Amino acid sequence: MAEKTLLRALAGEVVPTPPIWMMRQAGRYLPEYRATRAQAGDFLSLCYTPDLAAEVTLQPIRRYGFDAAILFADILLVPQALGADLWFVTGEGPRLSTVTTEDDLGRLKGPEDIHDHLAPVYETVRILARELPAETALIGFAGAPWTVATYMIAGRGTPDQGPAHALMRENPALFDALMDRIEAATIDYLSHQVEAGAETVKIFDSWAGSLTGAAFDRYALEPARRITAALKKRHPGLPVIAFPRGAGMRYEGAHAATGADCIALDDGVTPEWAAEHVQVAGCVQGNLASSHMVTGGQALIDETRRIVRAFSKGPHIFNLGHGITPDADPANVQLMIDTVRETVTA
Ligand code: CP3
Repeated sequence: MAEKTLLRALAGEVVPTPPIWMMRQAGRYLPEYRATRAQAGDFLSLCYTPDLAAEVTLQPIRRYGFDAAILFADILLVPQALGADLWFVTGEGPRLSTVTTEDDLGRLKGPEDIHDHLAPVYETVRILARELPAETALIGFAGAPWTVATYMIAGRGTPDQGPAHALMRENPALFDALMDRIEAATIDYLSHQVEAGAETVKIFDSWAGSLTGAAFDRYALEPARRITAALKKRHPGLPVIAFPRGAGMRYEGAHAATGADCIALDDGVTPEWAAEHVQVAGCVQGNLASSHMVTGGQALIDETRRIVRAFSKGPHIFNLGHGITPDADPANVQLMIDTVRETVTA
């Protein structure tokens, strides 16, 4: 049996004090992150400089003693490795060259040709596997094909993923070919992270919620299932976390549909509903609203306790429902951690 609490929860064990980590735990709300990012020059240089990427990954571990570290990188490094141009506009977010024609797709590289570009990420994982405290688990990650495709098709983040939905409708063959390319690259990318020392991997499908009806099954659940199955075949026993954000009631059945060991919950479902309908099938992670890290106070304490109690009878990893935001107060993160640990002993 694994000793690290995160791995125990992923294996289905009810750990007395749930392991804690946060999405975007290395980020702009931390002054030490902002300092290292300034040293790197820009966000992408930070991602591709292993010593600095490892440093920012370790910062929240040192400050808070989280039970898991998540590799510092970005889901958009995969499109870049496939040959897309990628840059970040300060204050606005990512920009990419778009894939909307067969010619655009034809210019992309094959999944086997991404690894030279991504070698610094694997090096970051190796450094972390060496330097993390013995009790801290290391999480690798990638974007899910649908979420990555929404950025590759639109060339930027979009409120409703309209351009990706339009391509799916107007040129389904091209859309499917792009999805397949991303899926194959993702399997290989995550597999390399595991070989470098990642102990579990998380598949971020941030825009799964905008898929409706059969498209949710076909483009969110099924790619996650194929990625999970391929990884478990290459790495027997590897625990996988899937995050179909915005799934709502479709979170029910997601363990079985994806084969993932853990389903990450956003803040759109109540913990009581999720305990009854999702956690019955396996480990869950989440679902505190990240706005509490900005506002703090009694509401943070009450909601944290509610989540810990609602999920106390099954395997649970304490986390936010989405990434912590730059305007969060680092003191509220400590309050959340203290509340989780006190609720358990109370
Ligand atoms: O969680 C972690 O601490 C690990 C690192 C991580 C980052 N991005 C670093 C990052 C992870 C897991 C991601 C995932 C990611 N990236 C997702 C999926 C999860 C989610 O949040 O829905 C998505 C959609 C992206 C794409 C992306 N990267 C966007 C839209 C942006 C800009 C928005 C923003 O917050 O500025 C990024 C930039 C980004 N990725 C930052 C960080 C710390 C902020 C960049 C900076 O420091 O300037």
